[in-house]
Amino acid sequence: MTRLPTPDDKFSFGLWTVGWTGIDPFGNATRPALEPWEYADRLAELGAWGITFHDNDVFPFDADEATKDRIVGRLLAATGKAGLTVEMVTTNTFTHPVFKDGGLTSNDRSVRRFGLRKILRAVDLAAQVGASTFVMWGGREGSEYDGSKDVYAAFERYREGLDTVAAHIKAQGYDLRIALEPKPNEPRGDIFLPTVGHALALIAELEHGDIVGLNPETGHEQMANLNYTHALAQALWSGKLFHIDLNGQRGLKYDQDLVFGHGDLMSAFFTVDLLENGFPGHPDAPRYTGPRHFDYKPSRTEHLVGVWESAAACMATYLALADKARAFRADPRVQEALIYSGVLDLAEPTLGAGESVAEFLAATDDFDPEKAAERDFGFVALQQLAVEHLLG
Ligand code: GCO
Ligand code: MN
Ligand code: MN
Repeated sequence: MTRLPTPDDKFSFGLWTVGWTGIDPFGNATRPALEPWEYADRLAELGAWGITFHDNDVFPFDADEATKDRIVGRLLAATGKAGLTVEMVTTNTFTHPVFKDGGLTSNDRSVRRFGLRKILRAVDLAAQVGASTFVMWGGREGSEYDGSKDVYAAFERYREGLDTVAAHIKAQGYDLRIALEPKPNEPRGDIFLPTVGHALALIAELEHGDIVGLNPETGHEQMANLNYTHALAQALWSGKLFHIDLNGQRGLKYDQDLVFGHGDLMSAFFTVDLLENGFPGHPDAPRYTGPRHFDYKPSRTEHLVGVWESAAACMATYLALADKARAFRADPRVQEALIYSGVLDLAEPTLGAGESVAEFLAATDDFDPEKAAERDFGFVALQQLAVEHLLG
């Protein structure tokens, strides 16, 4: 039996995850809404370390300053008492109809000015509650029809918005980093920054890109049939893995937001293996040390008791996979298979130290392609060892 989660595991949950009442495009709520602090208390009891929220998970869209202060104060009192960290804050620029064409990239400039102001205020709130990450998920930044958007201008405005937010963070001296969250579609037909790769490319164009990184979500990469573990790995390699959204997704369909592990379990195993054990051939490579954050939805078929069971399940599955991934790496058969497969050899540079292109071109290495082509890599045996460990 895997041990129970503790705050040392750094598990965190969005208030909107356990707080989802089951409203979807086809149906009404199936569960009552609790107050924000009630979710916080319960998550702490389950062993979570932190919580995250959108501005409007806590106070209404049209709340005045006094109301905001009162509600945020009440939430902070609860998290403080429960020993929970508010590790990430984000802005809701998708629910209110004003954002139907986006917040930072709406064709309507007055909406863009309103959206950017709302984001900057949420940044101030993030700093006020002690968060270390500010997530930006541009769910409404995009289009349904190609003729409806000047995409060049959209990227100019996206860059302008992100640089303005990053510059504000620096000017205020906040200890905050921005994490962009890619998603291919839903709610827009095509969302800008559909994948981790697209987001990395945009970050490279920013003036203040040094404090902008990524918050990749399991299901968002898998909705595009992409490999989530590779996405995390490339973000790590780029020094840009600032935050993660773990959940479950079964293939190319709507964003399912299942419990972590309830989608592609094999992929979840290697995700946890990367997060917990790092790159096999590169012990000194960057590691992810941030929160193990879940962005899932307790299915709308479940009562409140099922909400807490599903939150516990996310953490239990993560811990079980972490145990299995550790045992996998420590297994002498796996170590042998990694060597046989050449996995560890990839870390060696292709050129020799100081080798010039001229020297390289002149060398033959006595290489025989026919002989080299005979090599067996044994990847299947290695994968089967992973399956054995996963099955226990
Ligand atoms: C989604 C997204 C959101 C974001 C959240 C934080 O598909 O709805 O995953 O849940 O993570 O808005 O920015
Ligand atoms: Mn999602
Ligand atoms: Mn998410």
